[in-house]
Amino acid sequence: MNPSHRYEELKAQVNFHNYRYHVLDAPIISDLEYDRLLNELKQIEADHPDWVAPDSPTQRAGSKLANRFEKIRHPRPILSLANAFGADDARAWLERIKKLDDRVERAQFVVEPKIDGLSVILHYRDGLFAQGATRGDGEIGEDITSNLRTVRAIPLKIPVDSDQKSVVSVPKYLVVRGEAFIPNKDFEELNRKLEETGEKTYLNPRNTAAGSLRQLDPQLTASRPLTLLVYQIVYSEGGEVPTSQWKVLEYLKALGFPVTDVAKRFDDLDSAIAYTETWNQGRDSLPYEADGMVIKIDDLTLAADLGFVGKDPRGAMAFKFPAREVTTTLNDIGVAVGRTGVLTPYAMLEPVEIGGVIVERATLHNFDFIAEKDIRAGDRVLVKRAGEVIPYVIGPVIDARSGKEKIYQPPAKCPACGETVEHFEGEVAWYCVNAACPAQLTRNIEHFVSRGAMDIEGLGIELVKILIDLGLVKDVADIYALNKDDLAKINEEMTRRRREKKPPKNPPKTAAKKEEAKRPEKLLTAIAVSKEQPLARLIIGLGIHNVGEVMASDLSQKFTDLDELAKATVEELMQIEGIGPGIAESIADWFSRPFNRQVLKKLKGAGVWPKSEEKTEKPEGKLTGLTFVVTGTLPTLTREDVKEFIEKNGGKVTDSVSKKTSYLVLGENPGSKADKARALGIEFLDEAALRTLTL
Ligand code: IVH
Repeated sequence: MNPSHRYEELKAQVNFHNYRYHVLDAPIISDLEYDRLLNELKQIEADHPDWVAPDSPTQRAGSKLANRFEKIRHPRPILSLANAFGADDARAWLERIKKLDDRVERAQFVVEPKIDGLSVILHYRDGLFAQGATRGDGEIGEDITSNLRTVRAIPLKIPVDSDQKSVVSVPKYLVVRGEAFIPNKDFEELNRKLEETGEKTYLNPRNTAAGSLRQLDPQLTASRPLTLLVYQIVYSEGGEVPTSQWKVLEYLKALGFPVTDVAKRFDDLDSAIAYTETWNQGRDSLPYEADGMVIKIDDLTLAADLGFVGKDPRGAMAFKFPAREVTTTLNDIGVAVGRTGVLTPYAMLEPVEIGGVIVERATLHNFDFIAEKDIRAGDRVLVKRAGEVIPYVIGPVIDARSGKEKIYQPPAKCPACGETVEHFEGEVAWYCVNAACPAQLTRNIEHFVSRGAMDIEGLGIELVKILIDLGLVKDVADIYALNKDDLAKINEEMTRRRREKKPPKNPPKTAAKKEEAKRPEKLLTAIAVSKEQPLARLIIGLGIHNVGEVMASDLSQKFTDLDELAKATVEELMQIEGIGPGIAESIADWFSRPFNRQVLKKLKGAGVWPKSEEKTEKPEGKLTGLTFVVTGTLPTLTREDVKEFIEKNGGKVTDSVSKKTSYLVLGENPGSKADKARALGIEFLDEAALRTLTL
């Protein structure tokens, strides 16, 4: 074939496959085949530099660095939109424009997503992409052509040769408008990569998209996952264009522009509103950030005749979703001591409304996050509140700094008890490991008496709080020192508190009174009975960080009693299968603390000192040699049942996922173990599949 024909053919082919990939999201050739076509094209261009055309795919990755952006006057003003914050606002808009023009009565409406990106204006001359601009002040924008050329979803030539051979005519001069943005998934991926290479991450897709297009190096723009959706014809000359919004969208799509597939047309405003409401609910399923939906009068002649107010056309309006991201001042950083002793920093904010709720606290995740984002007290911060998620700080607005902001130092001591805080290898969290820490005492005791541990029936959270408030219990061992008098006091206090909360309408029935009177005795019995719990249960009850049911059972088989376990060194502990340096260290650390030693002494004195049970020979079976981790709730088996089932068949159950884990048994509402297993590529089983393994 004549090389110049071949060149034209290749150009069209590469542009077409580029369109399939970046606009339709439906490639029909492999990357390898695409590269082959592109390389052949590049070779021809190397042989014939004078052939290189502006619509050649090689002309996308701009290389020259600009000094500044030239100004471009838009052929028509680039308008904005008035906002509606709910159905009433939207109906009021319709009433207003009905009075201006009778045709509004019969108008149809097109609803489109309002993408939170950067408005761009694209000029095509004779079907070739000639120039691209930002919105600027609506009259004059900045020439960002070189940057926009790198955006693969922007066709360099229209109509893009498509597989359906419908011929669409293009005006000699066509100016369209769209929204450039970075899809959420790509944004997350971009941040993940930046984090991996230790670079600074971006705050949100919108700022990143705007920043990537409004900087002077097209190479950098090319490296950002930008795309766009086109929704308006701003101007045309030398050719017909549709005069209804719905048809405009169809027309732009036929030319090869990326156009939303979420748009719909309605015969009345109420249906249009109902549709926007469904996207308010479903906004998280959109692949990009949308801050609302746009409701437009379909008839563009009518819309134009309605005119505008300031920069807002009367023929359309933005139906805004409740905001999810706002900026406010970070007054200070507080630290909470969580249930497991984890110290969690939180933001104390200048109160601000986000989506109808006043927010004054927001999570800052962990101390590493504060350092990474360089969040300082006094900063303006971006705060997000979305769906069920607790409000969180995204990061500081660096440009808003006055210089008075204070760099944050994480606390070296627990804010609740003043003990030195600890950090375990491989974890980001800092812990207060002091079991006497008042912030943790309630939770420690709750855990100690719980079903899976010492199982003291009748000692619920309400009672635990009273025990602590009355100063009767300062550690778990104090439970065993409680006597009848103490319990009578507790009983009184409990009745008093209950009455305070909900005064009884009638005097309590005699039967209920009798029950109440028996409570102390019952509890004393339950406490006494718990002394007989096996060693594993007591180990669980101590609440050692990283030691769950399975680990406790292993430890109780290796050590005869808690004296033995207390003596074990980190090295000795690491000899046990399933115990890595992190767990070993946290066990040794727990037993080295004077407070905990004191608790052990008291427990021993009270006769709470179970001995190791006979070691059971491990049976051989179908699961011999396999290690399992269980997470979530299974349909029929309880935690103990699964463990028994796996062990009966020769398998081993451990608490934490590692490279040695053979399978993760997954139930409903799994925890973070599932994420870790997924990351390590470990196979998942449900209960049925687990049973099948043993057949
Ligand atoms: S129509 C006359 N449609 O929202 C046309 N705007 O606050 C006026 N936007 O600056 C704009 N998606 O950047 C329109 N489907 C859409 C849009 C959209 C996003 C942006 C646009 C505009 C802002 C208005």
